[in-house]
Amino acid sequence: MSVHAANVKKVTTQTLRQLKREGEKIASLTAYDAAFARVLDRAGCDFILVGDSVGMVVQGQATTIPVTVDDIIYHTQLVARGVERALIMADMPFMSYHSPAECLHNAARLMKEGGAEVVKLEWGALQLDMVSRLTECGIPVCAHLGLTPQAIHKIGAYRVQGREHDTALKMIDDARALEAAGADLLLLECVPMELAATITRNATVPVIGIGAGPSVDGQILVLYDILDIAPGKRTRFSKNYMAGANSIHEAIEAFVQEVKASRFPTAEFGFA
Ligand code: KIV
Repeated sequence: MSVHAANVKKVTTQTLRQLKREGEKIASLTAYDAAFARVLDRAGCDFILVGDSVGMVVQGQATTIPVTVDDIIYHTQLVARGVERALIMADMPFMSYHSPAECLHNAARLMKEGGAEVVKLEWGALQLDMVSRLTECGIPVCAHLGLTPQAIHKIGAYRVQGREHDTALKMIDDARALEAAGADLLLLECVPMELAATITRNATVPVIGIGAGPSVDGQILVLYDILDIAPGKRTRFSKNYMAGANSIHEAIEAFVQEVKASRFPTAEFGFA
């Protein structure tokens, strides 16, 4: 079923808050160009992320670290041309938000030049200040916690975060502090299901999960993973929606419908 119509109502951060309040699951995927963005938009994705995963799945890089602000601006411009309804979120690349001046300058570029409506940054101790400064400037922010791929060389491996008692408590505190600083959305990557459920219950802003189990307010996956064309081994929390689908359109619509109906993810896609 396509939601595309002549008078499409644009999704905003307020729409996403309303979906959380009403208990309707939020469905989201990444996209990097106008053609896929149009398909996602018409399939009913509530927001589309121009992720720095573009470095790995489109550019063929080994990590997200080489991705530049100009790369994200370019891909956000393409996505914006394909979208009528979905909210457009853009990733702030590695080291593009390490000082307040750089952070505000680069976030403004993603919005003014790219057409982003929300910026996403990965959590670290400096980010509370960045989130409040962005908020003061009227820039909506999504804070990414749990597995933060831009820190891969520090973490050492792409693995579940928050399994130990102290790291779990810290993540709960960080989520609370980020919301108090003005974050409009929280995104949890590779977080144990129970911890994700606690953070979601405590938060008044929507909590989006990727590998965080079924109890969060919404789900996001990397588009190329669900289409089974990402390089390397598919992550355990992702699902190949091309299996059993007759077209890319059908696969993407199936993802949106399964998220909305709480049929994805089941516990087998989560971490204990
Ligand atoms: O860049 C990206 O695609 C992301 C998702 C993993 C959420 O940040």
